[in-house]
Amino acid sequence: MSKRYENNSSPTELLPGDIEYEMGTPIPGVILRKEQWVQTAIKRLPDESLQLSEIFARSAPIAVDIGCGNGRFTISSAVRRPDWDHIGIDILPAVIRYGTRRGNQRGLSNVRFAVCDGWRFLEKYLPKNSVNEFHIYHPQPYADPTLSSRRMLTPEFMAMMHERLSDGGQVYLQSDRREYWDYIKTIMERMFVWHEVDGPWPEDEYGRSRREVLSVEQGLKIYRGVGTKRSDLTAEEMQTILLELPQPKFQVEGGERRSKRTLRKRPNRPGKPKRNR
Ligand SMILES: C[S@@+](CC[C@H](N)C(=O)[O-])C[C@H]1O[C@@H](n2cnc3c(N)ncnc32)[C@H](O)[C@@H]1O
Repeated sequence: MSKRYENNSSPTELLPGDIEYEMGTPIPGVILRKEQWVQTAIKRLPDESLQLSEIFARSAPIAVDIGCGNGRFTISSAVRRPDWDHIGIDILPAVIRYGTRRGNQRGLSNVRFAVCDGWRFLEKYLPKNSVNEFHIYHPQPYADPTLSSRRMLTPEFMAMMHERLSDGGQVYLQSDRREYWDYIKTIMERMFVWHEVDGPWPEDEYGRSRREVLSVEQGLKIYRGVGTKRSDLTAEEMQTILLELPQPKFQVEGGERRSKRTLRKRPNRPGKPKRNR
């Protein structure tokens, strides 16, 4: 089994048996022979709700990664939990292409990726009580105040997640933006049984997502937490909570962060995978 190293997260030139590295950090799973590859892209979303048990040809717990980026978390969770089905969505076709390719090359029949806006995906495609876990890692902060209306996590969005979760369902959240995190907490504490998590997720010691790997490298503090659906909330109580909670108009310091890697291309850097916090 060989290791390949690369900087730009492009899963090209990989051979069967390779372990793929991104920024010196392994992406779980092994590249299979071409005849073992599968199709993980949902190329055309239907006109109505997704029939999840038809898509995966079985009935299994469902994890949905919203704003999944290049799919690091979706892929690693699917490798680790073959008895769960996974959907990764992102608004950017380019990043979904990476995720799809990675899922295909690893033969992951328990993964699908689609290009879709998070709001639309929840509203239109996910039936109520159909999801066991939502994962949102590093939601786009939209630091420019004129773009704050694009922030995905609002009280209404969290209420939709709440409604689409089955009993006991959970939301996993992470950000390196303190202002966004403080805002997220005010919502989560009202709608979910919420607890913050100290330190990295034990299963993903190198970083759960691409943004996490970059943030660790930049020495940023990372905030993590899990909310479990409060099934005791009535529809009236949820309405009251929605009326009381503010919209995400907070100021974010420091503007949009861009990794040095995206600004300045560096040569490939074989080396020992770095151990993150
Ligand atoms: C900071 S990146 C984080 C990506 C990945 N979760 C990670 O941690 O590496 C935010 C991602 O959210 C996506 N995104 C932004 N707004 C979105 C929306 N309304 N619906 C779905 N994805 C969105 C962006 O395209 C981007 O890939």
